[in-house]
Amino acid sequence: MTANATKRQFLRSVGGAAGAAAVYRAMDALGMLGPGEAQASALDLPPGSGAGKSVVVLGAGVSGMAAAYELSKAGYGCTVLEATARAGGRNLTARAGDAIEETDSRQTVCYDDADHLYANLGPARIPYHHRTVLGYCREFGVDLEVFTNDNRAALFHNEGRFGGRPVAARRVMTDLRGYIAELLAKAVNREALDDVLGAEDKERILDMLVRFGALEEKDLLYKGSNRGGYRDAPNAGLLAGEANDPLDFGELLRADFWRYKLHFSHFLNQNPTLFQPVGGMDAIPRAFEARVGRSIRYSSPVREIRKTSGGVRVVHADGPGGDLKAVEADFAVCAVPATVLKDIPNDFSPETRAAIEGVEFVEAVKVGFQARRRFWEEDAAIYGGISWTDRDITQIWYPSQGYHRAKGVVMGAYIWDKEPGLRFTAMSPADRLDAAVAEGERLHPGYGKEMECGVSRAWLKAPFQKGGWPRGYEPPEALRRPDGAIHFAGDQVTALPGWQEGAVLAAHAAVDAIHRRAAGSGG
Ligand code: ALA
Repeated sequence: MTANATKRQFLRSVGGAAGAAAVYRAMDALGMLGPGEAQASALDLPPGSGAGKSVVVLGAGVSGMAAAYELSKAGYGCTVLEATARAGGRNLTARAGDAIEETDSRQTVCYDDADHLYANLGPARIPYHHRTVLGYCREFGVDLEVFTNDNRAALFHNEGRFGGRPVAARRVMTDLRGYIAELLAKAVNREALDDVLGAEDKERILDMLVRFGALEEKDLLYKGSNRGGYRDAPNAGLLAGEANDPLDFGELLRADFWRYKLHFSHFLNQNPTLFQPVGGMDAIPRAFEARVGRSIRYSSPVREIRKTSGGVRVVHADGPGGDLKAVEADFAVCAVPATVLKDIPNDFSPETRAAIEGVEFVEAVKVGFQARRRFWEEDAAIYGGISWTDRDITQIWYPSQGYHRAKGVVMGAYIWDKEPGLRFTAMSPADRLDAAVAEGERLHPGYGKEMECGVSRAWLKAPFQKGGWPRGYEPPEALRRPDGAIHFAGDQVTALPGWQEGAVLAAHAAVDAIHRRAAGSGG
Protein backbone atom coordinates (compact mmCIF):
# COMPACT_ATOMS: atom_id res chain seq x y z
CA MET A 1 0.00 0.00 0.00
CA THR A 2 1.31 3.46 -0.82
CA ALA A 3 1.88 6.07 1.86
CA ASN A 4 -0.87 8.17 0.34
CA ALA A 5 -3.36 5.33 0.39
CA THR A 6 -2.46 4.70 4.02
CA LYS A 7 -2.99 8.35 4.79
CA ARG A 8 -6.30 8.42 3.01
CA GLN A 9 -7.47 5.43 4.98
CA PHE A 10 -6.35 6.96 8.23
CA LEU A 11 -8.15 10.16 7.42
CA ARG A 12 -11.26 8.25 6.62
CA SER A 13 -10.96 6.47 9.93
CA VAL A 14 -10.35 9.56 12.03
CA GLY A 15 -12.41 11.94 10.02
CA GLY A 16 -15.28 9.90 8.72
CA ALA A 17 -18.55 11.67 9.15
CA ALA A 18 -20.87 9.28 7.40
CA GLY A 19 -19.55 6.49 9.62
CA ALA A 20 -20.94 7.82 12.85
CA ALA A 21 -24.15 8.73 11.13
CA ALA A 22 -24.46 5.21 9.76
CA VAL A 23 -23.94 3.72 13.21
CA TYR A 24 -26.54 6.03 14.69
CA ARG A 25 -28.93 5.20 11.89
CA ALA A 26 -28.40 1.48 12.48
CA MET A 27 -29.01 1.94 16.18
CA ASP A 28 -32.07 3.99 15.46
CA ALA A 29 -33.33 1.17 13.26
CA LEU A 30 -32.79 -1.22 16.14
CA GLY A 31 -34.86 1.03 18.35
CA MET A 32 -31.85 1.86 20.46
CA LEU A 33 -32.34 5.60 20.37
CA GLY A 34 -35.13 7.21 22.30
CA PRO A 35 -37.65 9.40 20.49
CA GLY A 36 -36.03 12.52 19.18
CA GLU A 37 -32.69 11.64 20.72
CA ALA A 38 -29.65 12.55 18.71
CA GLN A 39 -27.42 10.33 20.77
CA ALA A 40 -26.98 6.69 21.57
CA SER A 41 -27.26 6.62 25.31
CA ALA A 42 -27.21 3.78 27.80
CA LEU A 43 -29.05 0.68 26.68
CA ASP A 44 -31.29 0.24 29.67
CA LEU A 45 -32.29 -3.35 29.05
CA PRO A 46 -35.11 -4.43 31.38
CA PRO A 47 -33.59 -5.41 34.73
CA GLY A 48 -33.67 -9.16 35.21
CA SER A 49 -34.27 -9.81 31.51
CA GLY A 50 -31.00 -11.76 31.30
CA ALA A 51 -31.57 -13.87 34.41
CA GLY A 52 -30.48 -17.46 33.90
CA LYS A 53 -28.53 -16.60 30.74
CA SER A 54 -24.76 -16.55 30.51
CA VAL A 55 -22.32 -14.61 28.36
CA VAL A 56 -18.57 -14.95 28.11
CA VAL A 57 -16.92 -11.70 27.09
CA LEU A 58 -13.53 -11.93 25.43
CA GLY A 59 -11.37 -8.92 26.22
CA ALA A 60 -11.60 -6.41 29.07
CA GLY A 61 -11.00 -3.37 26.92
CA VAL A 62 -13.52 -0.57 26.75
CA SER A 63 -15.81 -2.53 24.43
CA GLY A 64 -15.74 -5.76 26.40
CA MET A 65 -16.29 -4.03 29.71
CA ALA A 66 -19.12 -1.89 28.32
CA ALA A 67 -20.80 -5.09 27.12
CA ALA A 68 -20.26 -6.79 30.47
CA TYR A 69 -21.61 -3.74 32.28
CA GLU A 70 -24.81 -3.57 30.26
CA LEU A 71 -25.35 -7.33 30.34
CA SER A 72 -24.75 -7.55 34.08
CA LYS A 73 -27.22 -4.74 34.73
CA ALA A 74 -29.85 -6.80 32.90
CA GLY A 75 -29.08 -9.89 34.99
CA TYR A 76 -26.94 -11.93 32.61
CA GLY A 77 -24.20 -13.99 34.20
CA CYS A 78 -20.96 -12.60 32.75
CA THR A 79 -17.44 -13.89 32.70
CA VAL A 80 -14.84 -11.61 31.14
CA LEU A 81 -11.60 -13.19 29.96
CA GLU A 82 -8.71 -10.75 29.80
CA ALA A 83 -5.41 -11.88 28.34
CA THR A 84 -3.27 -9.39 30.26
CA ALA A 85 -2.99 -8.47 33.93
CA ARG A 86 -4.82 -5.17 33.43
CA ALA A 87 -8.15 -3.98 32.10
CA GLY A 88 -8.42 -1.23 29.50
CA GLY A 89 -6.98 -2.74 26.33
CA ARG A 90 -5.60 -0.02 24.10
CA ASN A 91 -6.72 2.63 26.57
CA LEU A 92 -3.38 2.98 28.31
CA THR A 93 -2.20 5.86 30.47
CA ALA A 94 1.47 5.79 31.51
CA ARG A 95 2.36 7.16 34.93
CA ALA A 96 5.33 7.03 37.29
CA GLY A 97 6.49 3.47 37.82
CA ASP A 98 4.16 1.74 35.35
CA ALA A 99 5.56 -1.04 33.20
CA ILE A 100 5.14 -0.75 29.44
CA GLU A 101 5.59 -4.19 27.98
CA GLU A 102 6.20 -5.00 24.34
CA THR A 103 7.01 -8.30 22.74
CA ASP A 104 10.75 -7.60 22.96
CA SER A 105 11.14 -4.93 25.63
CA ARG A 106 9.98 -3.69 29.00
CA GLN A 107 10.08 -0.03 30.02
CA THR A 108 9.41 1.45 33.40
CA VAL A 109 7.73 4.83 33.21
CA CYS A 110 10.23 7.36 34.46
CA TYR A 111 7.92 10.33 35.02
CA ASP A 112 7.74 12.09 38.37
CA ASP A 113 4.77 11.17 40.46
CA ALA A 114 2.37 14.06 39.90
CA ASP A 115 -1.22 14.19 38.72
CA HIS A 116 -0.43 16.11 35.53
CA LEU A 117 2.56 14.00 34.49
CA TYR A 118 1.12 11.19 32.43
CA ALA A 119 0.93 10.10 28.81
CA ASN A 120 -2.17 8.71 27.14
CA LEU A 121 -0.40 6.19 24.94
CA GLY A 122 -3.67 4.95 23.46
CA PRO A 123 -6.79 7.07 23.00
CA ALA A 124 -6.23 10.68 23.99
CA ARG A 125 -9.16 12.72 22.73
CA ILE A 126 -12.94 12.52 22.72
CA PRO A 127 -14.90 14.74 20.34
CA TYR A 128 -18.05 16.43 21.59
CA HIS A 129 -20.35 14.32 19.41
CA HIS A 130 -19.19 10.95 20.71
CA ARG A 131 -22.29 10.92 22.81
CA THR A 132 -22.20 7.34 24.02
CA VAL A 133 -18.74 7.43 25.55
CA LEU A 134 -19.45 10.91 26.91
CA GLY A 135 -22.70 9.52 28.31
CA TYR A 136 -20.72 6.94 30.26
CA CYS A 137 -18.39 9.67 31.54
CA ARG A 138 -21.42 11.54 32.80
CA GLU A 139 -22.99 8.41 34.31
CA PHE A 140 -19.77 7.36 36.05
CA GLY A 141 -18.72 10.82 37.18
CA VAL A 142 -15.55 10.83 35.06
CA ASP A 143 -14.47 14.49 35.12
CA LEU A 144 -13.60 15.96 31.75
CA GLU A 145 -11.52 18.90 30.65
CA VAL A 146 -11.00 20.41 27.24
CA PHE A 147 -8.42 18.73 25.04
CA THR A 148 -6.84 21.27 22.73
CA ASN A 149 -6.57 19.72 19.28
CA ASP A 150 -6.03 22.88 17.26
CA ASN A 151 -3.70 25.65 18.36
CA ARG A 152 -2.74 28.62 16.18
CA ALA A 153 0.51 29.03 18.12
CA ALA A 154 1.61 25.48 17.30
CA LEU A 155 4.01 24.87 14.44
CA PHE A 156 4.08 23.55 10.92
CA HIS A 157 7.41 22.14 9.85
CA ASN A 158 8.58 20.80 6.53
CA GLU A 159 12.25 20.02 6.27
CA GLY A 160 12.54 21.18 2.68
CA ARG A 161 10.51 24.38 2.96
CA PHE A 162 11.01 27.77 4.61
CA GLY A 163 14.67 26.93 5.11
CA GLY A 164 13.66 23.98 7.30
CA ARG A 165 12.35 26.39 9.93
CA PRO A 166 8.95 25.77 11.50
CA VAL A 167 6.25 28.40 11.08
CA ALA A 168 3.43 29.21 13.45
CA ALA A 169 0.06 27.84 12.41
CA ARG A 170 -1.46 31.32 12.67
CA ARG A 171 0.83 32.52 9.89
CA VAL A 172 0.23 29.57 7.61
CA MET A 173 -3.52 29.82 8.02
CA THR A 174 -3.72 33.58 7.66
CA ASP A 175 -1.42 33.80 4.65
CA LEU A 176 -2.88 30.90 2.72
CA ARG A 177 -6.33 32.31 3.29
CA GLY A 178 -5.18 35.73 2.19
CA TYR A 179 -3.60 34.49 -1.03
CA ILE A 180 -6.63 32.37 -1.94
CA ALA A 181 -8.91 35.32 -1.32
CA GLU A 182 -6.71 37.54 -3.48
CA LEU A 183 -6.74 35.03 -6.34
CA LEU A 184 -10.48 34.63 -6.20
CA ALA A 185 -10.94 38.39 -6.10
CA LYS A 186 -8.77 38.66 -9.22
CA ALA A 187 -10.79 36.01 -11.00
CA VAL A 188 -14.01 37.83 -10.14
CA ASN A 189 -12.63 41.18 -11.24
CA ARG A 190 -11.30 39.75 -14.47
CA GLU A 191 -14.79 38.53 -15.21
CA ALA A 192 -13.62 34.92 -15.23
CA LEU A 193 -16.66 33.88 -13.21
CA ASP A 194 -19.31 35.97 -14.90
CA ASP A 195 -21.07 32.90 -16.22
CA VAL A 196 -21.84 31.80 -12.67
CA LEU A 197 -22.06 35.08 -10.76
CA GLY A 198 -24.55 37.90 -11.09
CA ALA A 199 -23.47 41.52 -10.53
CA GLU A 200 -24.85 41.62 -7.01
CA ASP A 201 -23.15 38.36 -6.05
CA LYS A 202 -19.86 39.63 -7.44
CA GLU A 203 -20.03 42.66 -5.24
CA ARG A 204 -20.91 40.58 -2.21
CA ILE A 205 -18.15 38.11 -2.88
CA LEU A 206 -15.54 40.83 -3.18
CA ASP A 207 -16.77 42.34 0.04
CA MET A 208 -16.68 38.94 1.71
CA LEU A 209 -13.18 38.20 0.41
CA VAL A 210 -11.78 41.37 1.90
CA ARG A 211 -12.89 40.11 5.31
CA PHE A 212 -12.29 36.43 4.70
CA GLY A 213 -8.69 36.91 3.62
CA ALA A 214 -7.76 40.26 5.22
CA LEU A 215 -7.30 41.88 1.80
CA GLU A 216 -6.58 45.55 1.29
CA GLU A 217 -9.89 47.17 0.44
CA LYS A 218 -8.47 49.52 -2.18
CA ASP A 219 -6.72 46.99 -4.42
CA LEU A 220 -7.97 43.63 -3.11
CA LEU A 221 -4.41 42.44 -2.63
CA TYR A 222 -3.11 40.39 0.28
CA LYS A 223 -0.12 42.08 1.85
CA GLY A 224 -0.02 40.30 5.17
CA SER A 225 -2.09 40.74 8.30
CA ASN A 226 -1.57 40.91 12.01
CA ARG A 227 -3.90 37.89 12.19
CA GLY A 228 -0.68 35.99 11.58
CA GLY A 229 1.05 37.66 14.53
CA TYR A 230 4.00 39.98 14.98
CA ARG A 231 7.69 39.77 14.19
CA ASP A 232 9.07 39.44 17.68
CA ALA A 233 6.09 38.25 19.69
CA PRO A 234 2.66 36.84 19.09
CA ASN A 235 1.06 40.23 19.67
CA ALA A 236 1.75 43.95 19.75
CA GLY A 237 2.20 45.60 23.12
CA LEU A 238 2.57 49.13 24.33
CA LEU A 239 3.58 50.00 20.82
CA ALA A 240 1.84 48.88 17.67
CA GLY A 241 4.59 46.47 16.69
CA GLU A 242 5.25 45.12 13.25
CA ALA A 243 3.18 42.35 11.79
CA ASN A 244 5.00 39.46 10.14
CA ASP A 245 5.64 39.65 6.45
CA PRO A 246 3.44 37.19 4.63
CA LEU A 247 5.02 33.81 3.94
CA ASP A 248 5.93 33.10 0.34
CA PHE A 249 2.90 31.78 -1.53
CA GLY A 250 4.93 29.40 -3.71
CA GLU A 251 6.62 27.94 -0.67
CA LEU A 252 3.24 27.49 1.02
CA LEU A 253 2.02 25.61 -2.02
CA ARG A 254 5.13 23.44 -2.12
CA ALA A 255 4.95 22.57 1.57
CA ASP A 256 2.70 19.65 2.42
CA PHE A 257 0.69 21.44 5.11
CA TRP A 258 -2.45 21.81 3.01
CA ARG A 259 -2.73 18.11 2.18
CA TYR A 260 -4.50 17.43 5.46
CA LYS A 261 -2.65 18.96 8.41
CA LEU A 262 -4.11 22.41 7.87
CA HIS A 263 -7.68 21.22 7.86
CA PHE A 264 -7.21 18.35 10.32
CA SER A 265 -9.53 19.90 12.88
CA HIS A 266 -12.22 20.23 10.19
CA PHE A 267 -12.63 16.46 10.09
CA LEU A 268 -15.76 15.72 12.06
CA ASN A 269 -14.03 13.45 14.56
CA GLN A 270 -11.32 16.06 15.14
CA ASN A 271 -13.65 19.05 15.50
CA PRO A 272 -13.42 21.16 18.60
CA THR A 273 -14.65 20.82 21.23
CA LEU A 274 -12.73 17.72 22.27
CA PHE A 275 -12.23 16.41 25.79
CA GLN A 276 -9.91 14.36 27.94
CA PRO A 277 -10.68 12.87 31.34
CA VAL A 278 -8.95 14.79 34.14
CA GLY A 279 -5.89 12.83 35.27
CA GLY A 280 -5.67 10.45 32.30
CA MET A 281 -7.80 8.67 29.70
CA ASP A 282 -7.76 5.46 31.73
CA ALA A 283 -10.33 7.02 34.06
CA ILE A 284 -12.84 5.50 31.62
CA PRO A 285 -11.72 1.85 31.85
CA ARG A 286 -11.13 2.32 35.60
CA ALA A 287 -14.78 3.37 35.95
CA PHE A 288 -15.97 0.32 34.01
CA GLU A 289 -13.63 -1.92 35.96
CA ALA A 290 -15.03 -0.62 39.25
CA ARG A 291 -18.40 -1.93 38.08
CA VAL A 292 -17.51 -5.19 36.33
CA GLY A 293 -14.09 -6.05 37.78
CA ARG A 294 -15.46 -8.95 39.79
CA SER A 295 -16.39 -10.72 36.54
CA ILE A 296 -12.94 -10.31 35.00
CA ARG A 297 -10.45 -13.17 34.94
CA TYR A 298 -7.11 -11.46 34.36
CA SER A 299 -4.07 -13.05 32.70
CA SER A 300 -6.41 -15.48 31.00
CA PRO A 301 -5.61 -15.48 27.29
CA VAL A 302 -8.12 -17.25 25.08
CA ARG A 303 -6.77 -20.43 23.50
CA GLU A 304 -9.83 -21.77 21.64
CA ILE A 305 -13.28 -20.54 20.68
CA ARG A 306 -15.72 -23.39 20.00
CA LYS A 307 -19.36 -23.56 19.04
CA THR A 308 -21.51 -25.96 21.09
CA SER A 309 -25.08 -27.11 20.69
CA GLY A 310 -26.09 -24.76 23.50
CA GLY A 311 -23.88 -21.81 22.66
CA VAL A 312 -20.14 -21.43 23.05
CA ARG A 313 -17.17 -22.94 24.81
CA VAL A 314 -14.04 -20.84 25.31
CA VAL A 315 -10.78 -22.38 26.47
CA HIS A 316 -8.35 -20.07 28.21
CA ALA A 317 -5.12 -20.22 30.15
CA ASP A 318 -5.46 -19.72 33.87
CA GLY A 319 -2.76 -17.15 34.58
CA PRO A 320 0.58 -16.80 32.80
CA GLY A 321 1.66 -20.30 31.80
CA GLY A 322 -1.22 -21.70 33.80
CA ASP A 323 -3.45 -24.71 33.19
CA LEU A 324 -6.17 -24.57 30.59
CA LYS A 325 -9.72 -23.94 31.72
CA ALA A 326 -12.97 -23.67 29.82
CA VAL A 327 -15.99 -21.41 30.13
CA GLU A 328 -19.30 -22.50 28.64
CA ALA A 329 -21.94 -19.89 27.97
CA ASP A 330 -25.10 -19.23 26.00
CA PHE A 331 -23.41 -16.40 24.12
CA ALA A 332 -20.04 -14.78 23.62
CA VAL A 333 -19.10 -11.18 22.97
CA CYS A 334 -15.73 -11.30 21.26
CA ALA A 335 -13.79 -8.03 21.48
CA VAL A 336 -10.39 -9.59 20.80
CA PRO A 337 -8.56 -7.50 18.17
CA ALA A 338 -8.73 -9.18 14.76
CA THR A 339 -4.91 -9.16 14.61
CA VAL A 340 -4.88 -11.50 17.63
CA LEU A 341 -8.14 -13.32 16.98
CA LYS A 342 -6.94 -14.67 13.64
CA ASP A 343 -4.40 -16.89 15.43
CA ILE A 344 -6.80 -18.35 18.01
CA PRO A 345 -8.12 -21.80 17.02
CA ASN A 346 -11.86 -21.46 16.43
CA ASP A 347 -14.98 -22.87 14.83
CA PHE A 348 -15.80 -19.73 12.86
CA SER A 349 -17.32 -19.93 9.40
CA PRO A 350 -15.04 -19.41 6.40
CA GLU A 351 -16.64 -15.97 5.86
CA THR A 352 -15.89 -14.91 9.42
CA ARG A 353 -12.33 -16.17 9.18
CA ALA A 354 -11.73 -14.34 5.93
CA ALA A 355 -13.12 -11.14 7.42
CA ILE A 356 -10.87 -11.43 10.47
CA GLU A 357 -7.83 -12.13 8.30
CA GLY A 358 -8.58 -9.08 6.21
CA VAL A 359 -8.50 -6.53 9.02
CA GLU A 360 -5.20 -4.66 9.04
CA PHE A 361 -4.18 -2.56 12.02
CA VAL A 362 -2.29 0.73 11.85
CA GLU A 363 1.38 0.72 12.96
CA ALA A 364 0.72 3.45 15.52
CA VAL A 365 3.57 4.66 17.73
CA LYS A 366 3.61 7.24 20.52
CA VAL A 367 6.58 8.62 22.42
CA GLY A 368 5.93 10.57 25.62
CA PHE A 369 8.71 12.71 27.15
CA GLN A 370 8.83 14.36 30.53
CA ALA A 371 10.30 17.83 30.11
CA ARG A 372 12.06 19.59 32.99
CA ARG A 373 10.53 22.90 31.89
CA ARG A 374 7.35 23.79 30.04
CA PHE A 375 9.39 25.53 27.36
CA TRP A 376 6.55 25.42 24.83
CA GLU A 377 4.47 27.60 27.16
CA GLU A 378 7.30 29.76 28.50
CA ASP A 379 9.12 30.38 25.24
CA ALA A 380 6.47 30.08 22.55
CA ALA A 381 3.08 30.66 24.25
CA ILE A 382 1.93 27.25 23.07
CA TYR A 383 -0.77 25.93 25.40
CA GLY A 384 -1.86 22.50 24.27
CA GLY A 385 -2.41 21.55 20.65
CA ILE A 386 -0.33 19.88 18.00
CA SER A 387 2.70 20.80 15.91
CA TRP A 388 3.13 18.96 12.63
CA THR A 389 6.26 17.91 10.80
CA ASP A 390 7.08 15.88 7.72
CA ARG A 391 9.68 14.00 9.78
CA ASP A 392 8.85 10.52 11.07
CA ILE A 393 7.56 11.73 14.45
CA THR A 394 4.71 13.38 12.48
CA GLN A 395 3.40 15.32 15.47
CA ILE A 396 4.32 16.87 18.79
CA TRP A 397 1.42 17.15 21.23
CA TYR A 398 1.65 19.69 24.04
CA PRO A 399 -0.24 18.75 27.18
CA SER A 400 -3.75 20.07 27.72
CA GLN A 401 -3.27 19.76 31.47
CA GLY A 402 -0.97 21.24 34.09
CA TYR A 403 -0.55 24.66 32.46
CA HIS A 404 2.21 26.69 34.16
CA ARG A 405 3.08 23.89 36.55
CA ALA A 406 6.52 22.43 37.00
CA LYS A 407 7.42 20.03 34.21
CA GLY A 408 5.11 18.48 31.67
CA VAL A 409 4.73 15.41 29.52
CA VAL A 410 4.97 16.11 25.80
CA MET A 411 3.94 13.55 23.21
CA GLY A 412 7.13 13.74 21.20
CA ALA A 413 5.85 11.49 18.44
CA TYR A 414 2.48 10.26 17.30
CA ILE A 415 2.93 8.25 14.14
CA TRP A 416 0.33 6.40 12.11
CA ASP A 417 1.74 6.18 8.60
CA LYS A 418 3.01 2.75 7.72
CA GLU A 419 6.65 3.40 6.83
CA PRO A 420 7.61 5.70 9.72
CA GLY A 421 5.45 3.56 12.02
CA LEU A 422 7.40 0.48 11.04
CA ARG A 423 10.73 2.31 11.38
CA PHE A 424 9.93 3.38 14.94
CA THR A 425 8.40 0.01 15.82
CA ALA A 426 11.62 -1.72 14.80
CA MET A 427 13.74 0.45 17.12
CA SER A 428 14.50 -0.28 20.75
CA PRO A 429 12.69 2.05 23.17
CA ALA A 430 15.98 3.90 23.80
CA ASP A 431 16.54 4.43 20.07
CA ARG A 432 12.99 5.69 19.65
CA LEU A 433 13.65 8.36 22.28
CA ASP A 434 16.88 9.44 20.59
CA ALA A 435 15.22 9.58 17.18
CA ALA A 436 12.22 11.51 18.52
CA VAL A 437 14.50 14.02 20.29
CA ALA A 438 16.61 14.53 17.17
CA GLU A 439 13.51 15.24 15.10
CA GLY A 440 11.89 17.38 17.78
CA GLU A 441 15.02 19.56 17.74
CA ARG A 442 14.03 20.65 14.24
CA LEU A 443 10.92 22.30 15.66
CA HIS A 444 12.25 23.39 19.05
CA PRO A 445 16.01 24.01 19.10
CA GLY A 446 17.34 22.88 22.48
CA TYR A 447 14.51 20.35 22.82
CA GLY A 448 16.81 17.47 23.79
CA LYS A 449 18.25 19.37 26.74
CA GLU A 450 14.77 19.91 28.14
CA MET A 451 13.81 16.25 28.05
CA GLU A 452 14.46 14.32 31.22
CA CYS A 453 13.22 10.93 30.12
CA GLY A 454 10.58 9.23 28.02
CA VAL A 455 8.61 6.12 27.21
CA SER A 456 7.19 4.83 23.96
CA ARG A 457 4.51 2.52 22.77
CA ALA A 458 4.66 0.75 19.41
CA TRP A 459 1.22 -0.80 19.23
CA LEU A 460 2.27 -3.47 16.75
CA LYS A 461 4.45 -4.89 19.52
CA ALA A 462 1.82 -4.62 22.24
CA PRO A 463 1.02 -8.12 23.48
CA PHE A 464 -2.56 -9.15 22.72
CA GLN A 465 -3.13 -5.98 20.66
CA LYS A 466 -0.77 -6.21 17.69
CA GLY A 467 -1.63 -2.85 16.21
CA GLY A 468 -3.23 0.52 16.80
CA TRP A 469 -6.64 0.34 15.19
CA PRO A 470 -8.14 -1.06 12.01
CA ARG A 471 -6.92 0.63 8.91
CA GLY A 472 -9.76 1.47 6.59
CA TYR A 473 -13.26 2.65 6.99
CA GLU A 474 -15.96 0.06 6.40
CA PRO A 475 -16.02 -2.76 8.94
CA PRO A 476 -16.28 -6.20 7.33
CA GLU A 477 -19.88 -7.28 6.96
CA ALA A 478 -19.16 -10.72 8.45
CA LEU A 479 -18.06 -9.20 11.77
CA ARG A 480 -21.21 -7.17 12.09
CA ARG A 481 -23.34 -10.28 12.45
CA PRO A 482 -22.95 -13.12 14.93
CA ASP A 483 -21.30 -16.39 13.99
CA GLY A 484 -23.38 -18.92 15.88
CA ALA A 485 -23.63 -17.60 19.44
CA ILE A 486 -20.54 -15.43 19.06
CA HIS A 487 -21.10 -11.70 18.60
CA PHE A 488 -18.19 -9.52 17.61
CA ALA A 489 -17.36 -6.21 19.26
CA GLY A 490 -14.61 -3.63 19.52
CA ASP A 491 -14.12 -0.55 17.39
CA GLN A 492 -13.13 -2.97 14.61
CA VAL A 493 -16.76 -3.80 13.86
CA THR A 494 -17.83 -0.17 13.53
CA ALA A 495 -17.36 2.71 11.18
CA LEU A 496 -15.45 4.46 13.97
CA PRO A 497 -12.21 2.48 14.08
CA GLY A 498 -9.73 3.86 16.57
CA TRP A 499 -12.36 5.56 18.67
CA GLN A 500 -13.75 4.58 22.04
CA GLU A 501 -17.14 5.65 20.73
CA GLY A 502 -16.85 2.81 18.22
CA ALA A 503 -15.94 0.44 21.04
CA VAL A 504 -18.99 1.27 23.13
CA LEU A 505 -21.39 1.42 20.18
CA ALA A 506 -20.17 -2.04 19.14
CA ALA A 507 -20.77 -3.28 22.68
CA HIS A 508 -24.30 -1.88 22.62
CA ALA A 509 -25.05 -3.46 19.27
CA ALA A 510 -23.80 -6.89 20.46
CA VAL A 511 -25.69 -6.65 23.75
CA ASP A 512 -28.85 -5.58 22.01
CA ALA A 513 -28.60 -8.47 19.54
CA ILE A 514 -28.04 -10.96 22.37
CA HIS A 515 -30.95 -9.49 24.27
CA ARG A 516 -33.25 -9.90 21.29
CA ARG A 517 -32.12 -13.48 20.78
CA ALA A 518 -32.44 -14.32 24.44
CA ALA A 519 -35.92 -12.90 24.40
CA GLY A 520 -36.64 -15.15 21.42
CA SER A 521 -37.47 -12.26 19.16
CA GLY A 522 -34.67 -12.27 16.67
CA GLY A 523 -31.11 -13.16 15.88
N1 ALA B 1 -8.82 8.25 17.13
C1 ALA B 1 -7.42 8.29 16.91
C2 ALA B 1 -6.91 9.68 16.82
O1 ALA B 1 -7.66 10.61 16.94
C3 ALA B 1 -7.05 7.48 15.75
O2 ALA B 1 -5.74 9.90 16.61
